[in-house]
Amino acid sequence: MNDDIERVLYSQSDIADACKRLGKQLTKDYEGKVPVVVSVLSGAVFFTTDVMRQMDTYTQLDFVDVSSYHGGTHSTGEVQLVTDISRDVSGRDVLIIEDIVDTGRTLQFIIDLFKNRHAKSVKVCTLLDKPTGRVLEAKADYVGFVVPDEFVVGYGLDYKGEYRNLPYVGVLKPKIYVNK
Ligand code: PRP
Ligand code: MN
Ligand code: MG
Repeated sequence: MNDDIERVLYSQSDIADACKRLGKQLTKDYEGKVPVVVSVLSGAVFFTTDVMRQMDTYTQLDFVDVSSYHGGTHSTGEVQLVTDISRDVSGRDVLIIEDIVDTGRTLQFIIDLFKNRHAKSVKVCTLLDKPTGRVLEAKADYVGFVVPDEFVVGYGLDYKGEYRNLPYVGVLKPKIYVNK
C-alpha cells in the first residue's frame, strides 16, 4: 500500500504535532463547557480519536454519517443524512470534527443541521483545509494544515474506500487512478 504513494505531505509526527497544537487551543476554548464532539464518518474517525485525546476537558462523543452524490465530474452537490447523532444538541456546544474540507458541501450541511436544532454554538475542527476546492463558504474554526490542490489519502482519507489506515497523509501516484 505504501508503494502507491508518490510523496508524504504530512508525516505521523507532523500530524501528532498538529493534534497537540489544536488540542491545546480546544482545551482553552472549551474550558468549563462539555462540548458534544461530532465526528463525521468515516474519514474523520482517525483524526477525532487523536485530537480528542489532546483535549483536557470534559466531552461527549457522537457520530454523524452523510453521503454526497457527486455525479462523476459534474457534481450535483447533494448531501444526505445517513446516520444521525444520538443526542439532543439544543443548547449544547457542538464541535464538528472533519478530516478535510474541500467543496465545503458536507460541512455546510452539517453546520446547518445543528444550527437548525438550536445548538448553542457550532464550531469546526478539520485536519485539512483545501480552500482551492471551495464551492460553498463553509469555514473551519480550527485547521491542522492548508493543503495544496492535490488528491490526498491516508489518516482517514480514502480513494475508493481504501488507504484510510495509512498513518500519514500522502499524494497518490497517478498510475493508481488509471489502473484501479
Ligand atoms: C470526504 C471527506 C469530507 C468530505 C469533504 O468524505 O471525508 O467529509 O468528503 O468534501 P466536501 O468538502 O467536498 O464535501 P466522503 O463523502 O468521501 O465520505 P468518507 O468520509 O466516508 O470518505
Ligand atoms: Mn468524510
Ligand atoms: Mg471519501
